[in-house]
Amino acid sequence: MRTDRATSGGITATDAGQPGAYGEAAAGREAGAGAAPARDTLTVTDNRTGKTYELPIEAGTVRAMDLRQVKAGDGDFGLMTYDPAYTNTASCRSSITYIDGDAGILQHRGYSIEQLCEHSSYLEVSYLIINGVLPTQAQLEEWVHEITIHTFVHENVKDFIQGFRYDANPMGMLVASVGALSTFYPDANQIHDEDVRRIQIIRLLAKMPTLAAFAYRHNMGQPYVYPDNDLNYAGNFLGMMYKMTELKYEPDPRLERALDVLFILHADHEQNASTSAVRSVGSTQVDPYSAIAAGVAALYGPLHGGANEAALRMLRRIGSVENIPGFLEGVKAGEERLMGFGHRVYKNYDPRARIIRKHLDDVFEVRGKSPLLEVASELEKRALDDDYFTQRKLYPNVDFYSGLIYEALGLPVAMFPVMFAIGRTSGWIAQWLEMVQDSEQKIARPRQIYTGDRDRDYVPIEQRG
Ligand code: CMC
Repeated sequence: MRTDRATSGGITATDAGQPGAYGEAAAGREAGAGAAPARDTLTVTDNRTGKTYELPIEAGTVRAMDLRQVKAGDGDFGLMTYDPAYTNTASCRSSITYIDGDAGILQHRGYSIEQLCEHSSYLEVSYLIINGVLPTQAQLEEWVHEITIHTFVHENVKDFIQGFRYDANPMGMLVASVGALSTFYPDANQIHDEDVRRIQIIRLLAKMPTLAAFAYRHNMGQPYVYPDNDLNYAGNFLGMMYKMTELKYEPDPRLERALDVLFILHADHEQNASTSAVRSVGSTQVDPYSAIAAGVAALYGPLHGGANEAALRMLRRIGSVENIPGFLEGVKAGEERLMGFGHRVYKNYDPRARIIRKHLDDVFEVRGKSPLLEVASELEKRALDDDYFTQRKLYPNVDFYSGLIYEALGLPVAMFPVMFAIGRTSGWIAQWLEMVQDSEQKIARPRQIYTGDRDRDYVPIEQRG
């Protein structure tokens, strides 16, 4: 079933009854005296002038540009909307990911995240997200083959990763090395050429795990491990991370599957901060490597991709169940945040957190149980029993348990956002592609409310007090 409605944190609006309202009657009309307003419109009265305007409503939104005609007088620029952090602004039309934050629903191209994690693989989901449909067997084989044979990076990439300080954060190395790929493939800037776009997409998906593993090995002071094309996507990544002297690395299938599911869970999440960064930078028509480097940079922040690291550090600091009440008191007093809880969009249990929770046991079966699981489970239980959290609709998000899996896989915390970035690459690509092909999109350029001084005279430095 196809829906066409604005989604914003579960605020959904019913279909517009006026198809094409934006095309034909793009500007809101000044309402004629006594005329009955059309059903799918918003009537606004400007009390400064007494004028009334009728603005079309489509897919639960009004066009911000329709407000520009609302003017206090001649010379007035026209009304704008003020929306810091874009909490109530739809910036694009998208058919990739649907989220109902109130109901805790996440779907990619109409398929539920639960079904995809149960039946699919990360590469199949990436095909789905990027191409809009599930592949046939032949299409999937070709897709997997192409990605597999592009996993190697140019030897110079190794050299410049080598140039980072021994303790460089792997996320910083990833931002730089993904961006640097554009210098190896200069034709990537031909973003309107479908064939050129396709090969960059394959390269991005193929090389991201290689760059991530090289960054890790550099951090560990270990030699880089080249990709093994006999292994699947997740298995090859584990090999590049952990292979030592053995001739052939054989990943444990339970770890391989858990990692693949983690990549699926992170594949896309509509217009979050890093995706908006990719779209915003990509709107300049720069090559996709540079746009996606912007996404990786956004993911580096502790409120986004860094939250799983922060959540694990928090669990380590709490240390044991007895310390939970004191910790929660500190959170409620506003001294700190309960990391891995709360979400701009989900006002219910994040469905991704539920799926991760299920895979924890598989990973612990191989690696041994983490003592922090007990702390995490108890912390979740007590927070969900507490009015502070329930009243604010704060529930565990994807990052609450993912850190425990990464820790069990032997990853240092600095690698956690890198894992997120590998999975999210397919979403960034799909969103970038959608934007490039969307005739309504142009260079992103928000407005501002200027609050500074004006018309000051320059004062020579010796005369300043
Ligand atoms: N711990 C304690 N209080 C919280 C938390 C939290 N984790 N999150 C929100 N609140 C409180 C906040 O203080 C505010 O309270 P009040 O109304 O009394 O001022 C209220 O809940 C609303 O919070 P907000 O900051 O307006 O919500 P937001 O939508 O701007 O923030 C968030 C969303 C994810 C940044 C925030 O919940 C947070 O900082 N969580 C911890 C970091 C985290 O886990 N991030 C991962 C997000 S999921 C991964 C991804 O998809 O990127």
